[in-house]
Amino acid sequence: MIRRLAPSVLNADLAQLADQVRLVEAAADWIHLDVMDGHFVPNLTFGPPVVAALRPYTGHYLDCHLMVDDPEALLPALAEAGANGVSMHVEALADPERALAAAAGLGLDAGLALKPGTPLDTVLPHLGDLDLIVPMTVEPGFGGQAFDDRVLPKIAAAAQAIVASGRTIALQVDGGVNAGTLPRCLEAGADTFVVGTAIFGADDPAAAAKAFRALIDGGEPRRG
Ligand code: DX5
Ligand code: ZN
Repeated sequence: MIRRLAPSVLNADLAQLADQVRLVEAAADWIHLDVMDGHFVPNLTFGPPVVAALRPYTGHYLDCHLMVDDPEALLPALAEAGANGVSMHVEALADPERALAAAAGLGLDAGLALKPGTPLDTVLPHLGDLDLIVPMTVEPGFGGQAFDDRVLPKIAAAAQAIVASGRTIALQVDGGVNAGTLPRCLEAGADTFVVGTAIFGADDPAAAAKAFRALIDGGEPRRG
């Protein structure tokens, strides 16, 4: 079974983005980029131009988490910028099916993200069109928040639904993932782990990323 580490650069030193990514590349599978518009969430980060600026500096998969009011509008520019996958918040989409098809049509892996309080039912009708599900374990907007373990049953239910679908769909956890909470996510069936401050807030981000890699590869998964 594939397990992925996706360091989030949200709380990295963004003035040195390419260097920060290089620090964690050896341990990472995906690089998680949090695009925020200051409306869907109170924070404002970066968009397609920064994704394009980073693209020549890494061959890694660029996983863009879109915390914006109109994710569909950003898709062409993100594809052009060299993004590999997108996760769009289901709460922001009037027509998830159309948005997922638009992403796929641009060659992007297509995902849906859910806030902690959003039921899994909102994404289940779209399993046939999805590459990624992200049940968030904090309210989106900021790094460094505490993991909300009330989301664990939703992660387990998503894992079961993925198995039942027979499709290859990544199950990503995002928010408050650290050495204490990661094993619980793995046990619930998650396979892709976004880690922000527990890597980039560490004294040695490269060593921290390596330790997460070992934790992920050493844990026992449970699916279905
Ligand atoms: C929060 C972002 C996360 C964030 C995770 O809205 O989606 O990707 O960077 O950071 P930590 O790991 O610190 O919770
Ligand atoms: Zn994120």
